[in-house]
Amino acid sequence: MASSIPKLRLENKVAIVTGGAQGIGECIARSFVKHGAKIVIADVKDDLGELVCQDLGVEFAYFIHCDVTIESDIENLINTTMARHGQLDIMVNNAGIVDDANLSILDNDQAAFERVISVNLTGVFLGTKHAARVMIPRCSGSIITTASVASVTGGCCTHAYTSSKHGVVGLAKNVAAELGKYQIRVNCISPYGVVTPMSFNFIGMDENTDVYSNLSGKTLKPQDVANAALFLASDESGYISGHNLIVDGGYSVLNPVFGLFSLNR
Ligand SMILES: NC(=O)c1ccc[n+]([C@@H]2O[C@H](COP(=O)([O-])OP(=O)(O)OC[C@H]3O[C@@H](n4cnc5c(N)ncnc54)[C@H](O)[C@@H]3O)[C@@H](O)[C@H]2O)c1
Repeated sequence: MASSIPKLRLENKVAIVTGGAQGIGECIARSFVKHGAKIVIADVKDDLGELVCQDLGVEFAYFIHCDVTIESDIENLINTTMARHGQLDIMVNNAGIVDDANLSILDNDQAAFERVISVNLTGVFLGTKHAARVMIPRCSGSIITTASVASVTGGCCTHAYTSSKHGVVGLAKNVAAELGKYQIRVNCISPYGVVTPMSFNFIGMDENTDVYSNLSGKTLKPQDVANAALFLASDESGYISGHNLIVDGGYSVLNPVFGLFSLNR
């Protein structure tokens, strides 16, 4: 039987990926282009972002410098995308940072906490707001935020990061409630640990790090996260909104410290 899923799942769509110069965002951007989308990469790392776009081809990918914490940068990102393509179908709020892994809350300072909140939560608010501004008149769009397994669990990352990721899930639910009347879908993706520059700098995680996985022998790759983004961006997820798609191999639904099935491992 022929599959009903089209080969090019994002044909004729225009997408923005913030934080698309490297890591998960770069993989999402590459996957979107592979599936027929035109993309705009928005990042503060201009050289890396430009390189990715050159590699993807100027007719498919365009780089715009954008610090997601600055509203005028986000406005410029959205307005330039509209001027170039005349539409915005998919907004991926993916840019994120993590602060130092201080093991006591007493060693966490306010400035570092607020910096994480400003990129990971305020940046997502601004991206969502200005994407909605141009999606509302067209009554269509998919807004996706890269949250984290730290949006549903405690203890796997810093206080600031965990707070910010819980926050974006709340924001997505609220905006999904508001924008449903315009048929705009708003969702999150929550990955488990993935090897990227962020996780390497944070805990030295690389391809050789032995990370616990509920799916024995399998490790999460950027492409697994990009596949989830592809689904939420495409029309295949047309009735999914307000959802937090957790990509963690089951990590967050079990406690590996004690469990009936862990006796068998
Ligand atoms: N790597 C993981 O294990 C993991 C797990 C769960 C969720 N995430 C989330 O996935 C997203 C991507 O993470 P990653 O691991 O690819 O990180 P990364 O550091 O490799 O990439 C993040 C990108 O965001 C950009 N960025 C940072 N601050 C910015 C700002 N103010 N404005 C614009 N761009 C900015 C960086 O320049 C970089 O290109 C983040 O939201 C992160 O929290 C990562």
